[in-house]
Amino acid sequence: VIDISKLYAQTGMFTYDPGFTSTASTQSTITYIDGDAGILRYRGYPIDDVAEGGDFIECCYLLLYGDLPTPAQKEDFKTRVTRHTMVHEQMTRFFTGFRRDAHPMAVMVASVGAMAAFYHDSTDITDPMAREIASIRLIAKVPTLAAMAYKYHIGQPFIYPRNDLDYAANFLQMCFAVPCEDYVVNPVFARALDRIFTLHADHEQNASTSTVRLAGSSGANPFACIAAGVACLWGPAHGGANEAALKMLEEIGDAKRIPEFVNRAKDKNDPFRLMGFGHRVYKNYDPRAKIMQQTSREVLAELGRKDDPLLEVAVELEQVALKDEYFIERKLYPNIDFYSGITLRAMGFPTSMFTVLFSVARTVGWIAQWKEMIEDPEQRIGRPRQLYKGEVERPYIPIDKRG
Ligand code: ACO
Repeated sequence: VIDISKLYAQTGMFTYDPGFTSTASTQSTITYIDGDAGILRYRGYPIDDVAEGGDFIECCYLLLYGDLPTPAQKEDFKTRVTRHTMVHEQMTRFFTGFRRDAHPMAVMVASVGAMAAFYHDSTDITDPMAREIASIRLIAKVPTLAAMAYKYHIGQPFIYPRNDLDYAANFLQMCFAVPCEDYVVNPVFARALDRIFTLHADHEQNASTSTVRLAGSSGANPFACIAAGVACLWGPAHGGANEAALKMLEEIGDAKRIPEFVNRAKDKNDPFRLMGFGHRVYKNYDPRAKIMQQTSREVLAELGRKDDPLLEVAVELEQVALKDEYFIERKLYPNIDFYSGITLRAMGFPTSMFTVLFSVARTVGWIAQWKEMIEDPEQRIGRPRQLYKGEVERPYIPIDKRG
């Protein structure tokens, strides 16, 4: 058994903190969360104001450069992004190597990583201009790759980006337009998706962002780092939770069955949990969940489904849980995933695209965090320690003497 006092003597300090619940891996000036008060701010601005007052392009500028843009700065940034929305034509052939039934997230991990092979003129991380171009390329091209992953999955031809449209509207047309048919982007859906992107843009040192930073700390190129972030996001405990929340609401199906599911969630012998409830950091209402509920209502009203049964179940379930001692004591509130699945599905996205959409939105946060790390003079390669619990030393036994 390893003597922990020995490790302490060697290093001066040794902490064992599974899940990093109380260890800061970095300093940052990008995103502030006060989980007890239910506060989320990007660069000091409350999430409500960023989501309601501006748009996703403005949010990207804010996260990347630290301040809200002037109108001229915003226009210039938007032009720089839209100029890079096309992907290399050879990448379309790369896509056809995948099986049609591949999960779009598998295609995303591969195609975002493959960007390093197509855009290697922006992989020199020591050159600030190369870092800037790589950042713009990622923000511009990840939605194009995401839409291509979707179109390939459903067997439809790829739709090229349209630079006359805003970021979210362009994404909708790349996903839902069909060649030879008119497609007009619904402005309510475009605004809703833009807000969904803003709400998911950054969330300080979550699992995928920490993965991006760890990959980047070795000097890996930005495309490889963002692909690592996409891979981490794929997990059901992270980006996949909105899909699980939607499935749960469908399973409940009717408000009458809510008490049964609430009781199951409280039963320690039942592995069932209320999906979309609880958060590692928020011990209060997730501020993003409030905006998401409102967005959900707007999208459903646009579809003439104000009384959508799933939304009714969700709202009622929230009311029941918020009055229940079990949830009050443990400070369990709805998180962003509680209402996002309902909204995305109402807009026409299949569940297999939910995490893909999350990766489109989070790309800017990953890049902002990666850039902050590269530009930090205190940056060192990430190298967690371990608490070794195995055999300390054993004599080697030749194979003919074993058994
Ligand atoms: N339903 C029922 N009970 C819950 C729930 C829930 N959704 N979440 C937590 N609890 C209970 C736990 O059983 C535990 O009870 P105990 O103290 O009696 O043992 C207590 O609340 C504390 O829970 P922990 O698991 O220790 O909290 P932790 O911070 O580790 O977990 C997590 C947070 C993983 C998000 C958890 O709340 C959960 O599983 N929620 C459902 C999944 C979900 O919605 N994930 C999305 C997170 S947001 C995002 O990734 C974008």
